[in-house]
Amino acid sequence: MSILDIIQKRHSCRSYQDKEIEKDKLDKIFEAARLAPSARNFQDWRFVVVTNKEVKSKVAECTNRPEVFEKAGAIIVACSNMDYVMKCGQAIGPIDISIALEHISLQATELGLGTCWIGSFETEKVREILSIPQQAAIIELMALGYPAEPGKQNTRLAIEEILCFDKWEF
Ligand SMILES: Cc1cc2nc3c(=O)[nH]c(=O)nc-3n(C[C@H](O)[C@H](O)[C@H](O)COP(=O)(O)O)c2cc1C
Repeated sequence: MSILDIIQKRHSCRSYQDKEIEKDKLDKIFEAARLAPSARNFQDWRFVVVTNKEVKSKVAECTNRPEVFEKAGAIIVACSNMDYVMKCGQAIGPIDISIALEHISLQATELGLGTCWIGSFETEKVREILSIPQQAAIIELMALGYPAEPGKQNTRLAIEEILCFDKWEF
């Protein structure tokens, strides 16, 4: 599969089989995360991978779709450990983590696994369940697991609506 094939295949998976993810697959997925680019190569990402059923169910309860995400083989909790802001005024944490999570999502797709970004969650409850210290910002969660059914691609804007050259034309 080419990179574009994998990108086209990826979609948000909201139906999972209650099935563990093999260690060799997890290793490959997190190697893809480890190799992601990051601002000043700070690699400001720390991942807590929740696979224990009881803990996973508690974390899923903090999300907008507990019954879906508790079945996923893992819930990845992506945290930033630094407060670094770039000259452009943007914090590196959410950017670095988003890149790494998308590496995860695409590598998972190539391995036949599904993912779903989860931004709708109760941060402080997740922090307490996983004993994540206050200095770490919990940026995003991602469900990861074997899809229970084939998903479908979501719509996108046409290229002319998102792209222009040389000057702002929107
Ligand atoms: C930053 C971010 C946060 C998201 N949060 C959620 C969420 O909390 N729950 C959910 O079901 N989907 C969530 N999604 C998935 C989006 O709804 C989905 O990516 C979008 O509708 C496009 O569909 P697709 O991923 O199937 O292409 C999130 C996606 C992103 C990138």
